[in-house]
Amino acid sequence: MACRIVVLISGSGTNLQALIDDLAPRSEHGQIVAVISNKADAFGLQRAQAAGIPTRALSHRDYPDRALFDQALCNVIDEFAPDLVLLAGFMRILTADFVRHFHGRLLNIHPSLLPKYKGLHTHARALEAGDREHGSTVHFVTEELDGGPLIVSARVSINATDTEASLAAKVQQGEHRLYPLAMNWFIQGRLRLQDNRACLDGQPIPEQGLDLEDCETDKREHAHVLQQDQ
Ligand code: GAR
Repeated sequence: MACRIVVLISGSGTNLQALIDDLAPRSEHGQIVAVISNKADAFGLQRAQAAGIPTRALSHRDYPDRALFDQALCNVIDEFAPDLVLLAGFMRILTADFVRHFHGRLLNIHPSLLPKYKGLHTHARALEAGDREHGSTVHFVTEELDGGPLIVSARVSINATDTEASLAAKVQQGEHRLYPLAMNWFIQGRLRLQDNRACLDGQPIPEQGLDLEDCETDKREHAHVLQQDQ
């Protein structure tokens, strides 16, 4: 049976698009069953509709506090009975109750090489600090903001001419390879949260997470060996 995936967004949804495109040829393995936004005008909702995916908009402004909004959001997500919930540019801090409810099946993509630069304005902070590299990270979500077990990161180098916008564009290119990879690991049953550690193929992932380049090299070498065997 296909892994049922709900994606939460607040904005443009370029990561959502990368996930949709990646799943399109193999919907028997994984299917995005709903896209939910806290902003009714998020462009990502149009991307979902164009792909024939059900959408919901639930504004946090219609709820008196965070706990009630998160409870309502939780109920809407549960209607779709997801195996996996992906935060893809969902710009809300989630309550502990929400995070606990989806324990082990909630992933986030964050635009920095975590644990560096949790929170907002990550590109500006990396530039200001004079960093030579930056990137994005996929991690399991726990109660600590941007602090859950790291899974995999995509690095980009920072050049002297980079601006916040050019850096954001480079980071997003990496994100569009990174999130489908992590999603597929989960779909294939290879990625799990065990005793609060991210595990791939039953082995704990190192605390700093894996590196996308190494994972893609491994994949290419594996494909090469398979070809040679044929
Ligand atoms: C992405 O860069 C994602 O890493 C970031 O929002 C962007 C959404 O872009 N997420 C966060 O900052 C979460 N703290 P998108 O809407 O084009 O996918």
